[in-house]
Amino acid sequence: MGPERAIAIIEHLRTAVVCLDDENRVLDLNPAAELLFGLSERQIRGEQLAAILPHNRAFCAQLENIKLQDRVYMEHNLHLRCLRQDEMIVECTITPLRVGAIRLLLEFIKVERQLQLTREENRAVLEQATRIMVRSLAHEIKNPLGGLRGAAQLLAQQLKEHAELREHTEIIIAEADRLKHLVDELLGPLRPPHPNLINIHRVVDRVLTLVRAAGHRHVVFQTDYDPSIPELEADHEQLIQALLNIVQNAIEAISEQPGPLQSPGRILLRTRTQRHFAIANRLHRLVARIDILNNGPGIPESIRDQIFYPMVTTRHHGSGLGLSISQELVRRQGGVIVCDQDGSETCFRIYLPIQQPHKERLHGDAP
Ligand SMILES: Nc1ncnc2c1ncn2[C@@H]1O[C@H](COP(=O)(O)OP(=O)(O)OP(=O)(O)O)[C@@H](O)[C@H]1O
Ligand SMILES: [Mg+2]
Repeated sequence: MGPERAIAIIEHLRTAVVCLDDENRVLDLNPAAELLFGLSERQIRGEQLAAILPHNRAFCAQLENIKLQDRVYMEHNLHLRCLRQDEMIVECTITPLRVGAIRLLLEFIKVERQLQLTREENRAVLEQATRIMVRSLAHEIKNPLGGLRGAAQLLAQQLKEHAELREHTEIIIAEADRLKHLVDELLGPLRPPHPNLINIHRVVDRVLTLVRAAGHRHVVFQTDYDPSIPELEADHEQLIQALLNIVQNAIEAISEQPGPLQSPGRILLRTRTQRHFAIANRLHRLVARIDILNNGPGIPESIRDQIFYPMVTTRHHGSGLGLSISQELVRRQGGVIVCDQDGSETCFRIYLPIQQPHKERLHGDAP
């Protein structure tokens, strides 16, 4: 492989690669390593590894031994603490080399993100299977429902003179209507997305206008936008629906908590970009993120892992479909919604790819 090709490949690796000289100074590194250390190439190049990882003395001290033994060394659960980053668990491989001034080649892979990705993938498959099952069931219920309602209407016409019996047909018709409404919701958003170049702040603003118009005086809405987020390809209306469901849940969580409010209800809508983010099995160089944070009572622990499944609800009049529909709508735009409960802060994050990836697959073909 020619040097130019080798450099291009290393530049695009998701694995953080660092080359050290005989004095353990950084000679070279790739963008994934800059991201891992939270420092720019200019800040890292020429520095001792021990200066970049001051909290990992034992790890850095082993480098001399590895060079002496001249054997590849692997550490599986390294708790890495860089200067500006939180602690993270990585897998590290150190290979002694003698290529020009390069003496050691270090490769770091974030283990937590890898595990999280596998979990997210498994969950997405299960959620989709459940949605398909619920939809098929809904479809089967919908078919005879029309006939049932029609027959009850015919019967009602025959029973014009029997008011006491018509009461029964009215119950059948009303219940059939209620079921039809539920079934329509279960069948979910059937319209395929019509993607256009959109500005996500217009989506967020629209949702804010809608919920503000509905009152909710006890809730303070805050925004924190990153105005530099570029436009992205998505269906404007479907994104509004997806975000609205999440904001509505946040309002309901704040409004429905028992007893007087501990502190004023607050919902923050924040937008950011994020580099190198994997959704399903695709790695995106850049994604837009809409965070919806609220200081309500939080998601009950018993359902935290299931909230994106249809019909999971803790609310008296909830159908448990809001989040499942939102996830489906965002998935259709190539994105994903994840949820974090951090102490008293409930956070939903909508990730949306900014450039559509062409060559950036992690493995296999996307369905
Ligand atoms: N911001 C939040 N804070 C606390 N709990 C939440 C929040 N968002 C969702 N939940 C929990 O997740 C459940 C599922 O939400 P989802 O929107 O899917 O259904 P729902 O709100 O119960 O009913 P629907 O949206 O169909 O009217 C809710 O019943 C609630 O228990
Ligand atoms: Mg809801």
